[in-house]
Amino acid sequence: MASENTQDFEYTGKMLDRVLVLEMVRVTEAAAVAASSWIGRGDEKAADAAAVEAMRLAFNDLYMDGTVVIGEGERDEAPMLYIGEKVGGAPGKGPKIDIALDPLEGTTITAKAGPNSLAVLAAAEEGCLLNAPDVYMDKIAVGPGYSPNIVNLNKSVTENVCAVAAEKGVEPSDIIVCVLDRPRHDKIIAELREIGCGIQLIPDGDVAGVIATTNPETTIDIYMGSGGAPEGVLAAAALRCVGGQFKGKLLFRNDDERARARKWGIDDLDKIYDLTELAKGDCIFAATGVTDGSLLGGVKRLRGGIMTTDSVVMRSSSGTVRWVKGEHKIK
Ligand code: FBP
Repeated sequence: MASENTQDFEYTGKMLDRVLVLEMVRVTEAAAVAASSWIGRGDEKAADAAAVEAMRLAFNDLYMDGTVVIGEGERDEAPMLYIGEKVGGAPGKGPKIDIALDPLEGTTITAKAGPNSLAVLAAAEEGCLLNAPDVYMDKIAVGPGYSPNIVNLNKSVTENVCAVAAEKGVEPSDIIVCVLDRPRHDKIIAELREIGCGIQLIPDGDVAGVIATTNPETTIDIYMGSGGAPEGVLAAAALRCVGGQFKGKLLFRNDDERARARKWGIDDLDKIYDLTELAKGDCIFAATGVTDGSLLGGVKRLRGGIMTTDSVVMRSSSGTVRWVKGEHKIK
């Protein structure tokens, strides 16, 4: 799949080492395999901790001087993979890489054995990923093939749906929209119902929800609603690679959240971010399914001590998307 976004940014730095692209899959595989022991076990924290620890260890096998820019939280609240933590086996020597990660995107889903939990990361050259604070982000996304800015956060729900329907050549009521199932989305859902749209309500996991807009098999045309800002950067990195459009606006509930954003260098608190402002330059997106989902199959434990994984890794500068099936011997 060629990216429609590979041409439209001015790239000034050097490209990421291509060896790192495939290596990133080992990292998400390790996290997914570790989390899979906890699928359906009702223990979100244990599932997350297993994924975090495995991802942390797997990073050390990579020849890079990595820094976590989006991680498990700030240093005082996360023992591992905290923001600012150095990862990689070549500190001070290897390429300087910024990493956004979520070792287990969908902790509740994993605990309940629901669909679409992922181990996920994005990597880019130093300074290329938005250091998004852990606040909410208002998001809207569509897949590739539409005119620029077909959707935007300063348009109403109805305007966005009608614009997509007009370009797709269908009625607004034929449009399918993916929304996180949350009371805060009641107004959006009511407006979509008024239009007669199909709504796919997801319990969790909006990285997969956003990426689903790029895959016609999911039939999802638009993703809308608010979710985690870190997840917004991860989803934007994926769309940079496969094409599609994404707009995100940070949402602040209190002064503490505003202060956190300023601390990470964000001055314009009302800014609507485009894809290349969230993830710029050459970037890599890698994910491994933990549970079965629209993007990837989950980890399977087979007879004979074999475990299988289903992953994807993409790179924005080439637009290459690799689907990686792994078979692992259970130790
Ligand atoms: P976790 O993996 O941290 O549980 O996140 C799951 C998730 O559904 C994200 O995909 C989404 O961005 C966020 O939570 C939404 O937050 P909230 O559950 O507060 O609505």
